Amino acid sequence: MIPGYRPVVKHLTDVSRMGYGAMQLAGPHVFGPPADPEEAKRVLVRALDLGVDHIDTSDFYGPFVTNEIIREALHPYDRDLCIVTKVGARRDDEGNWLPDFEPESIRRQVHDNLGRLGTDRLGGVNLRLMDPSADFRAQWEVLAELQSEGLIGDLGLSEVTAEHVATAQEIAPVACVQNQFNIAQRGDDPLIASLAEQGVLYVPYFPLGGFTPFDTTELDRIGASYDATGRQVALAWLLQHSPNILLIPGTSSVAHLEENVAARDLVLSDEDVAALDSLHPA
Ligand SMILES: NC(=O)c1ccc[n+]([C@@H]2O[C@H](COP(=O)([O-])OP(=O)(O)OC[C@H]3O[C@@H](n4cnc5c(N)ncnc54)[C@H](OP(=O)(O)O)[C@@H]3O)[C@@H](O)[C@H]2O)c1
Repeated sequence: MIPGYRPVVKHLTDVSRMGYGAMQLAGPHVFGPPADPEEAKRVLVRALDLGVDHIDTSDFYGPFVTNEIIREALHPYDRDLCIVTKVGARRDDEGNWLPDFEPESIRRQVHDNLGRLGTDRLGGVNLRLMDPSADFRAQWEVLAELQSEGLIGDLGLSEVTAEHVATAQEIAPVACVQNQFNIAQRGDDPLIASLAEQGVLYVPYFPLGGFTPFDTTELDRIGASYDATGRQVALAWLLQHSPNILLIPGTSSVAHLEENVAARDLVLSDEDVAALDSLHPA
């Protein structure tokens, strides 16, 4: 055990619903270092101050940049923090995203994330499917082994269908699914409902539209009556959309982080939820 080290133990099932996605802490196009590394560390420290206990990251981001910043800003970690990473891809020298999917590579990636974050247990690991047609059973079995070795708290899948989840569940429990979903992109509505019935968490990526932010005109109008911004409305809508949704909005700015986290206290009326539901139906 590293002197002064405290294990990361919180499970995804125990985290508060408003988490933080660290991808925006890397440089432009999620490649290289951020323009303002000190602000990046302040974002992480402020997130924990505000009660965030779930951070989503990956060695893909930078690559390695966000995990290094997390370690610099937050290590030694609080026992109440759940850091969730992803495996299944890598970046090349130009920043392209490539599949990295052999079972032995999956094992190495988990150990690399552990080492870079400076911990001997990850709160969670998502297997990111870069090729939805690939047979991922061998990779999922490796993750199940690493979980039984005590290196991973919860296992998740990213960029998957209901069929992928069913296949994975035959091998090891799926704690969460991480797919793209937001108020303007609702293709996963049936999957979210089915996962809720199975007790599986759903963690939408790009909750604010990611690289292509959606038009917030109508959201701003509804938000005005709550003294809230359109983006806060988008996040509050997600929290009210289904009880199995956990949020990880990303930002590189402390001010935006504070705005986003405050959305956890925004309760939209049934009437406004209905109006928002009809903006971009599933
Ligand atoms: N599994 C996967 O394949 C996958 C893919 C993508 C992302 N993810 C995860 O999902 C997390 C969330 O996705 P994301 O960060 O890409 O997208 P997002 O949360 O939808 O949006 C982030 C974008 O919105 C801006 N933003 C955030 N809060 C804002 C605010 N209050 N006001 C104005 N602009 C604001 C950010 O810019 P500023 O930095 O200027 O605030 C950034 O450009 C990521 O951090 C990552 O951990 C997973």
